[in-house]
Amino acid sequence: MERSLTMEVVRVTEAAAIASAKWMGRGLKDEADEAATAAMRALFDTIPMHGTVVIGEGEMDEAPMLYIGEELGLRNGGPHVDIAVDPLEGTNIVAKGTNGAMTVLAIADSGNLLNAPDMYMDKLAVGPEAAGKVDINNSVTENLHAVAKAKNKNISDVVAVLLDRPRHQKIVDEIRAAGARIKFIQDGDVSAAINTAFDETGIDIMFGMGGAPEGVISAVALKCLGGDFQAKLVPEDDAQLERCVKMGIDVSKVLYLEDLVKGDDAIFAATAVTDSELLKGVQYKGAYCLTNSLVMRAKTGTVRFIEGRHNIDKKPRYDK
Ligand code: FBP
Repeated sequence: MERSLTMEVVRVTEAAAIASAKWMGRGLKDEADEAATAAMRALFDTIPMHGTVVIGEGEMDEAPMLYIGEELGLRNGGPHVDIAVDPLEGTNIVAKGTNGAMTVLAIADSGNLLNAPDMYMDKLAVGPEAAGKVDINNSVTENLHAVAKAKNKNISDVVAVLLDRPRHQKIVDEIRAAGARIKFIQDGDVSAAINTAFDETGIDIMFGMGGAPEGVISAVALKCLGGDFQAKLVPEDDAQLERCVKMGIDVSKVLYLEDLVKGDDAIFAATAVTDSELLKGVQYKGAYCLTNSLVMRAKTGTVRFIEGRHNIDKKPRYDK
């Protein structure tokens, strides 16, 4: 993939964040999501590439845009890429005006992203120091001790992040019994997975079940960061199981980083809509709008934090 795509895709997440931030705190999560989706789509079509959405807002018949299979980009001879999008990761967060929502996407050479079905996935994420030292097949306790050793910490100083859901009670009990600490989040496990790779967030490991599409996007981010992300699909009924079989996915097998994102190159971009540990959310100031983004490339391991200052009066409206 051309490295110039790195800067192109950040424009996409910026536009989506600017559009959806208008809905922050209005209690209208679908409107926030639709604004992000429309902006993303419009911006994608300005990029010299031929992209196909492999992870999107749903199947063609249930999603008006950014559906799986949708082709995006200028499509005039640029590289063929797989696209994974979550136009607004944390729709409820934006509706409630709380922390941790962002617009996210990932791209990779065609055929390199797992076409994950829309179902739950059991996830384990760690940053670079603990990469190669944890295993989703091991117990929660074993993984906590492995992280403590890798990061030269006492177990009582290890912080695990997980979605605050009743389905995680067993993991919660085990973390507490091991003597480690928990940071619960209400939504947004892509952001949480990324935080494991940044010491300043105070987060060491992420456990728990969340959306599979978000899992593939998180895997791209951790690949860029030199961390690790492992997962197992969790079909909830026969229809979901059948879907996996049809897609050639063996649900009894662990999906390691290389199964989720093949090859050595992939690009991840995110722009904060509301504040998070790493990025400040969209701020409107008169004619200007400030954005903060994270964009990274797996091939080179380059991680960029980009602050954008946008003159709203001079920018087209992408959210309609
Ligand atoms: P949305 O932005 O689609 O609402 O997803 C937010 C999210 O919290 C994800 O980060 C996470 O993977 C998933 O929902 C968890 O699903 P559930 O709310 O069903 O536990």
